[in-house]
Amino acid sequence: MRRVVAIANQKGGVGKTTTSINLAASLATLDKRVLLLDIDPQGNATTGLGIDKSQVEQGSYDLFINQAPLENTILPTTCEGLFIVPASMDLAGAEVELVGVDGREKVLEKVFSDYAAEPFDYVFIDCPPALNLITLNALAASDRVMITLQAEFYAMEGLTQLMDTIRRVRANLNPYLNMDGILLTMVDRRNRLCVQVEEEVRSYFGSQVYEHCIPRNVRLSEAPSFGIPAMYHDIRSTGAQAYLQVAQEMIRRG
Ligand SMILES: Nc1ncnc2c1ncn2[C@@H]1O[C@H](COP(=O)(O)OP(=O)(O)O)[C@@H](O)[C@H]1O
Ligand SMILES: [Mg+2]
Repeated sequence: MRRVVAIANQKGGVGKTTTSINLAASLATLDKRVLLLDIDPQGNATTGLGIDKSQVEQGSYDLFINQAPLENTILPTTCEGLFIVPASMDLAGAEVELVGVDGREKVLEKVFSDYAAEPFDYVFIDCPPALNLITLNALAASDRVMITLQAEFYAMEGLTQLMDTIRRVRANLNPYLNMDGILLTMVDRRNRLCVQVEEEVRSYFGSQVYEHCIPRNVRLSEAPSFGIPAMYHDIRSTGAQAYLQVAQEMIRRG
């Protein structure tokens, strides 16, 4: 694995899954080999890429609980260069079952270090909306964490707790974890509050914030119902174009 990026925010509905799918697909079209790991029991990244959760034989649950090797859980998607480890129905139980496991925060890290097949340029981990054991596993197994923030009044709420968690993971589980950056999502520049929130986030976090942000765009919310990334649904949409730009920015930022 060349770069493992956890996409995290313990708030739901802030664009984690939309970003996971569309950033992963954008990097795949830029000729990168990309894996998306769905570890949210809701499995929205899985269904958003056209996979029926009830048909999954081995998925992320099996990585956490059944010592399944990563290569047994990887499925191709309809997008060239993009692969997924799907979430299956039973993932909801993993959080509780993990509690009794030895080294329970480092299960995913071990899964990655045991992987010896063809490496991926990027691995994205779509985290659940919680700072739970599953998310800790993702942070312990990642080089970077990308935080998606919805540009609304409560955007920064909960961020202190998330930053504290990242600090604690760095101190206790994974000294190699760095911030990838903060990505603003669902931005509507016609909305004054939204513009203010963006200014506030940028003045507080400076260069940690991605220059490009993701506009509110209906194509991004429609695409999952077709089981495809937005760029395959409407490549010219502002949403698809924004994710392509963020992908290029991510490559540039190195
Ligand atoms: N930029 C956007 N424009 C319009 N709708 C969006 C955008 N980003 C996300 N959405 C929609 O908002 C909802 C929450 O987004 P999602 O990516 O699932 O958030 P999370 O994974 O953080 O819970 C979904 O219905 C999604 O389709
Ligand atoms: Mg999600």
